[in-house]
Amino acid sequence: MIYKKNSLLMDGFRIDFLGHKFKTPMYCYSSKKIRNNILNFKNIFKKINPLICYAVKANSNLSILKEIKNHDLGADVVSIGELMKALKAGIKPQKIVFSGVGKTSEEIEYAINKNILLINAESKSEILQIEKIAKKRKKIVNIGIRLNPNTDAGTLSQISTGKKENKFGVNQKLFLELVNFSKRSKYLKLKCLSVHIGSQILNHMPYQRMLGVVNKTINLSRHQFEYIDLGGGMGIDYEHKNLSLNFKKYSQNISNFVKKNNCKIIFEPGRSIIGNTAVLITKVIYVKEGYKKDFIILDAAMNDLMRPALYGAKHKILPSRKNKRISKKVYEFVGPVCESTDKFATLLKFQKLKERDFLVICDVGAYGTSLASNYNLRPKPIEVLIKGKNIQIIKKRQKLSELI
Ligand code: LLP
Repeated sequence: MIYKKNSLLMDGFRIDFLGHKFKTPMYCYSSKKIRNNILNFKNIFKKINPLICYAVKANSNLSILKEIKNHDLGADVVSIGELMKALKAGIKPQKIVFSGVGKTSEEIEYAINKNILLINAESKSEILQIEKIAKKRKKIVNIGIRLNPNTDAGTLSQISTGKKENKFGVNQKLFLELVNFSKRSKYLKLKCLSVHIGSQILNHMPYQRMLGVVNKTINLSRHQFEYIDLGGGMGIDYEHKNLSLNFKKYSQNISNFVKKNNCKIIFEPGRSIIGNTAVLITKVIYVKEGYKKDFIILDAAMNDLMRPALYGAKHKILPSRKNKRISKKVYEFVGPVCESTDKFATLLKFQKLKERDFLVICDVGAYGTSLASNYNLRPKPIEVLIKGKNIQIIKKRQKLSELI
């Protein structure tokens, strides 16, 4: 995103032009950014040559999945729906891992039928269920077991997953029992230890602690794991303050780990691949004077982008045209939905805005559309992808007639 002559541009297209042409609210993605993120990710970890399984939950638009597949990534899925869509995008079953605490028998059967790389199990009951289905089908099924390393990732509490009070994975004691159980089974092939400690992580220390726990657990298990799946969670710089995970240190720690354990690494990144590749373009419907602050009422709302309402997450807001007049009052950017949490930001010293101005909400590629809903019976927004000089509509705006 850059300003040229005070107009905000995305990959050479003026935001005002996009807003007028496709109407707002609209999601706009950059194919170039997706490519750059993937090349960067591969480059950072090239020494360990991991299998990169993109976390489909971050964004499951079919065209986006195809872009990602064209860069040879695999997929991490958490439901039969995501699995079907990853396959439809052309991602090879041998590059797909299935995570999640509540896979149903139908989902397990489907995954077994499709011969995916791994089903990462998260409980004893699930392993028993996988074994039962494998036995019925007379098939040997490749599994992983998810360890809960009891590591605090220091993220928003709502998105922490690696602490013992979280529902994910199994503790070390049970993990070791399940390793022994799986090794005795004729129908299970235990190939992987998986972990994922949380999301939007910007400090490498929790990862380092997690690797320590994984290392110890492998030693105690005396099992040779072919794969260690380290999950995702790498954070991005939402506040545009040059904050970033120290990838060099993380990658160095993993290299040392691989030397000791002689295994192939799997990653499941979502946000770090797709997060900063999209903006939500929105228009000011009304400027409403309030007590001590003005409400900037946008045509985008919490149903289009849920993260601020759900987690108090911050997303940078930029005007599509810069001016030099600064508002004396605080601006509160809100949507039209009938909830007080339908609020994107409260900002001081924003430039003066007027009705019908366009704005962009930045870094909405991950968990933007995938968390969107029809709350207040609002249709889901249009999604477009900029690809060089072309703009493709990758999801039409939902029609009201589909909802009514
Ligand atoms: N693998 C597993 C097992 C996961 O649970 C997740 C995310 C990922 C990989 C991908 O994590 P990432 O690289 O994207 O951080 N809706 C929240 C984020 C929830 C993340 C859930 N699990 C948000 O908008 O911040």
